[in-house]
Amino acid sequence: MDFDVAVIGGGPGGYVAAIRAAQLGGKVVLVEKENLGGVCLNRGCIPTKTLLRSAEKWEELSRCAEFGLKADNIGFDYAVIFERKTNIVAGLRSGIEQLVKSNDITVMNGTAVLTGSRQLEVSTAAEQVTISASGIIIATGSVPSTIPVAGHDLSEVITSDQLLELTEVPKRLVVIGAGVVGIEFSAIMRAFGCEVTVVEMLPTILPMLDSELVKRMGLLLRKQGIKMLTGAKVTDIEAAADGVMVKVDTGKDVQDIPADKVLIATGRRPVTEGLGLGTAGVIFDNSGIQVNTRMETNIAGIYAIGDVTGQSMLAHTASTAGMVAAENVMGLHAEMDYSAIPSCIFTHPEIASVGLTEEQAKAQNIDYKSSKFNFAANGKAVTMGETDGLVKIIAEVASGKVLGMHILGPHASDLVMEGALAIRNGLTARDIAHTVHPHPTLSETVMESAHGIYGDIIHQVKPKTRK
Ligand code: NAI
Repeated sequence: MDFDVAVIGGGPGGYVAAIRAAQLGGKVVLVEKENLGGVCLNRGCIPTKTLLRSAEKWEELSRCAEFGLKADNIGFDYAVIFERKTNIVAGLRSGIEQLVKSNDITVMNGTAVLTGSRQLEVSTAAEQVTISASGIIIATGSVPSTIPVAGHDLSEVITSDQLLELTEVPKRLVVIGAGVVGIEFSAIMRAFGCEVTVVEMLPTILPMLDSELVKRMGLLLRKQGIKMLTGAKVTDIEAAADGVMVKVDTGKDVQDIPADKVLIATGRRPVTEGLGLGTAGVIFDNSGIQVNTRMETNIAGIYAIGDVTGQSMLAHTASTAGMVAAENVMGLHAEMDYSAIPSCIFTHPEIASVGLTEEQAKAQNIDYKSSKFNFAANGKAVTMGETDGLVKIIAEVASGKVLGMHILGPHASDLVMEGALAIRNGLTARDIAHTVHPHPTLSETVMESAHGIYGDIIHQVKPKTRK
């Protein structure tokens, strides 16, 4: 079978690449061995956000007296929450199937192996098919990585994939790794009453984020009842009469923590095995397939996008890179820009970040200024009862150009887009400050923080000056 474009993997990278190539007139085949939607839809972003939404509603119910509301016998039924998640995932999956079909993309349910720079073998349940394509886009994603600790193979030790399939909330959960996966799952499980202990080997949770936000988030997570051990290592996991016993070396002492489940959240690794990369001559290593800014590998005509490249393992990065690769395969010229990719952590409150942190600006010897505005001083946040957090903007002193925006607070993941737009387009903090923001909205926190770069915050009590 001959195609213009063959895409391997139907996640948010692959299916978007397939649609973009079809929009540009390409004859496209999309090969997926499981379900369309990839990790994001089936085992990641969407199922976790569905659980999180139930957790948020539950938290709101628990706070209803504060809002003058009365409710008796409130509770939750995890079986229904689980079913809602399953139905939402199925609904969105069928949406992607329709999208792909409406773009006349051929979908093959099977496993693809590269057999040359323009050729693949696809094994489906029924047959083996040889496919030729002028351009091949590899979008095989990533899987959770494991750690070599004793006891990691016990059935109670699970990955996020398996945690999402649990039909009951475990009573006691130990989470190894305080990155995005570890913290998001800890927050969700804690909201449903689970006793959560997070073990992180570095001195801080969420090590990639602005340290001030991390400090504040740490306090909030502790207030929510999550126990956090940083600078700590799990040395052993042993079967116990009920569940497992996790041995943790905190540097000061060794603690035995009983648990029903242990979540390994120590990162993800690109899926490069069994793809025939060696046969095709594609350069890759443990951190992923090497690509240039056009998302092309060392072999002309073979592209790789998303988690399999090991760079910025996020669904929206994969989708953007998918469009870049598809356009290049179809004869346009497109390049990937990683400088303004927002990353979001869906806890309560949310964290969202784009561009440089203060630590990175310092390390790069940039003459920068930072400004902060607290949600507690924003009318809308006060009415919502969501006053924890802040918006921090980092801007270059000489030009005022926005270099970074870091938000902890309600709807941070939506608000951060103003920062992404500014960084991507070289806008200054003044451009944000002088754009009229509607009142009363959370977006005013971004505007006020931008004013702060010039010392002009309106809703901030002026410090007293001595006369
Ligand atoms: P990660 O790399 O973000 O964090 C892993 C954490 O585990 C690190 O803090 C690391 O220091 C710690 N760690 C590693 N080995 C350890 C050990 N033996 N003991 C204790 N701690 C250890 O990886 P994570 O959280 O698994 O996420 C994987 C990828 O998925 C990331 O790229 C993340 O950005 C992405 N993701 C994004 C989400 C979002 O955008 N909301 C949600 C979930 C995942």
